[in-house]
Amino acid sequence: MIDNNTKKIYIETYGCQMNFSDSEIVGSIMTDHNYATTDKIELADIILINTCSIRDNAEQRVRKRITVLAKLKNKQPNLKIGIIGCMAERLKSQLLEEEKDVDIIAGPDAYRDLPQLMNSVENGQRAINVLLSAEETYGDIRPVRLDPNKISAFISIMRGCQNFCSYCVVPFTRGKERSRNPETIINEARELFELGYREVTLLGQNVNSYNWNENGQMSFPDLLQKVAEINPLLRVRFATSHPKDISDELIQTIAKHPNICNNIHLPVQSGSSRILKLMNRKYDREWYLERIATIKKHIPDCGLSTDMISGFCSETEEDHQQTLSLMEAVAYDYAFMFKYSERPDTLAAKKFRDDVPEEVKSKRLAEIIDLQRKLSHQSNKKDLGLTFEVLVEGFSKKSDEQLSGRNSQNKMVVFPKMNYKKGDYVQVKIGRCTAATLIGEAIS
Ligand code: SAH
Ligand code: SF4
Ligand code: F3S
Repeated sequence: MIDNNTKKIYIETYGCQMNFSDSEIVGSIMTDHNYATTDKIELADIILINTCSIRDNAEQRVRKRITVLAKLKNKQPNLKIGIIGCMAERLKSQLLEEEKDVDIIAGPDAYRDLPQLMNSVENGQRAINVLLSAEETYGDIRPVRLDPNKISAFISIMRGCQNFCSYCVVPFTRGKERSRNPETIINEARELFELGYREVTLLGQNVNSYNWNENGQMSFPDLLQKVAEINPLLRVRFATSHPKDISDELIQTIAKHPNICNNIHLPVQSGSSRILKLMNRKYDREWYLERIATIKKHIPDCGLSTDMISGFCSETEEDHQQTLSLMEAVAYDYAFMFKYSERPDTLAAKKFRDDVPEEVKSKRLAEIIDLQRKLSHQSNKKDLGLTFEVLVEGFSKKSDEQLSGRNSQNKMVVFPKMNYKKGDYVQVKIGRCTAATLIGEAIS
């Protein structure tokens, strides 16, 4: 029950989709303990910042934000500020020492402890819990849905990562890999469908290594199929897949079910086998290209996207050219592209020198971005004249006369509203495009 004594929490989220999903778990834990969530920061008694450590600039953004929020305490002395998520886990008590206005620190596996931590803070202490767990999946928790869209939701199905890519901080901030009980996942998806949701995205840092082994075995393809069978009108997506686990069985499962979206985010990071080895990615260029060929054979219209890192330790111009040529060979529809950022305590920080000069990293990144813009535009031009089933997510950004949604390949499609509404599936014929959007008209 919400009464005047109910404290209000505002949660601000940075980083990956897993963090957005975690904020919904945090919201649920707190509302079960006589707190309420608010989307108005000025009404908040507690501000929680769910943070990311993946690159140095992600952490710098949060540091700046803490400084801004700390000023609110002058006007509102009872306001409490908590830092949760990966940065809390990476920096631990150091963050309390450096940020005097922070009252609470909680790592990704400590969210059930947040109400107790809050109690300590009410009693005038500063509170911290950064214990990692080998078992915590928050499987029994029904997340509150913070996203107002109510059509598409994230479901966290596994946590942690133990791949130890040499550049990456996640194994240190998220702990060991563990899978969530499949029954709780399927129930959550079914409840969402019954509430009117039409799309779920199954989440994990390495989602396709999902494996449940208690009272019966369930692999990732089995789980995908079970979720897809809830209802043909429920679209199923998943992210992020590691190339090492993209099995033939998984590809065939996607191909077989029309409501499992034809879209795979398969981060390659580099096109050079030498760099991939230094990154500890556990595959090489040839292996990756073979997997892409198998995907294209079974799912010819599959949308493909990737993550790329420019300027990793010792990367030469030749390595970089191999990245560009791999991008052309795959012809990705979309990419997230980054400059290498050395993270403390990772394998790369300990073993290799961050020796590619900043301006070379920037130049290579600019070339990667330019090429991807061209590839995205080409990919969209190929769709001209084709008709796609689009799940309507809402109005387009530019006009209330236009609706927008995604096709199975995860491309954004915009078309005139007519009598359609959010949550409808509409057949849209594509007439025009930009590098980022397909533009068309509904056909009956
Ligand atoms: N688990 C996912 C991705 C996790 S992080 C996977 O393995 O693909 C998202 C992306 O951030 C990574 O794919 C990588 O491209 C980028 N990234 C991770 N660490 C980085 C670093 N130290 N510097 C720059 N980019 C990094
Ligand atoms: Fe990081 Fe690699 Fe794990 Fe992805 S698979 S989270 S890049 S260690
Ligand atoms: Fe960032 Fe942590 Fe996600 S480091 S990318 S929020 S797992």
